[in-house]
Amino acid sequence: MIEAAPAKVNLALHLRRRRDDGYHDLETLFAFTDFGDTLRVVYEEGLSLAVDGPFTAAVGDGDNLVLRAARALALAGGCPAHAALTLDKHIPVAAGLGGGSADAAAALRLLNRFWRLDWPLERLAEVAVPLGADVPACVFSRTLAGAGRGDELAPLDLGLAGTPILLVNPRVAVPTGPVFAGWDGIDRGPLDPAGWRTARNDLASPAITLAPVIAAVLDALAATGATFVRMSGSGATCLALYADAADCSAAERALADRHAQWWTVATTLR
Ligand code: C5P
Repeated sequence: MIEAAPAKVNLALHLRRRRDDGYHDLETLFAFTDFGDTLRVVYEEGLSLAVDGPFTAAVGDGDNLVLRAARALALAGGCPAHAALTLDKHIPVAAGLGGGSADAAAALRLLNRFWRLDWPLERLAEVAVPLGADVPACVFSRTLAGAGRGDELAPLDLGLAGTPILLVNPRVAVPTGPVFAGWDGIDRGPLDPAGWRTARNDLASPAITLAPVIAAVLDALAATGATFVRMSGSGATCLALYADAADCSAAERALADRHAQWWTVATTLR
């Protein structure tokens, strides 16, 4: 059995408040792409995870979120945790694309079928909450408005399915915690989903402080004829939307010529 783990982007992310539990209250718009990792499973006694794909080396050999998700589901569902999982890793790590969260969410959906629990996504999203702030959104992998830590979710249709999107990462890993910690604490106001095109990513400024190359990525994308350019999540990946697929692939080629070391993917929004 196989399950896709779509990469997540944040079209907007407004920080509202530092909380006492180490997290931040935020308002965000999650969207998902047709690009991502894939997770496969076959039956074997016990629980195991193998990793292959271009970002294998970036996946630590610690307790992967996929295994934590599998154990959490087995516990919640009262089923023995027997599964040999293989993760095909294409999403860069610590990149603002929710890679680890997408993998954990894919594990919940995959094992939900494999272990014949057949729970609705809403119930899987409850299991996902302790696994990380973005994991419940990744369970749904559809456009959502997120509030609280990012796990209070409301579905939303921005009419963006099929929109060409270019993802660009300067191959600098940016850890999430320090970017949030660098926020100046100023609440710049709520996020109106209808006005997402003019909304902000309040993590861009602290991310650029930690990784100045992000500003160069945003400038480069702004010069490609994109209809919309933002940093995703806590960075360093930036995204650009285009009116058509030809514009998107032309932009990818232009960037590859000038910044051969940058990682790029041209795909579409789901
Ligand atoms: O929940 P997750 O492990 O993905 O979060 C990683 C880190 O990002 C947290 O430890 C916290 O520092 C930061 N974070 C935050 N506020 C959020 C989401 C994440 O401060 N709403």
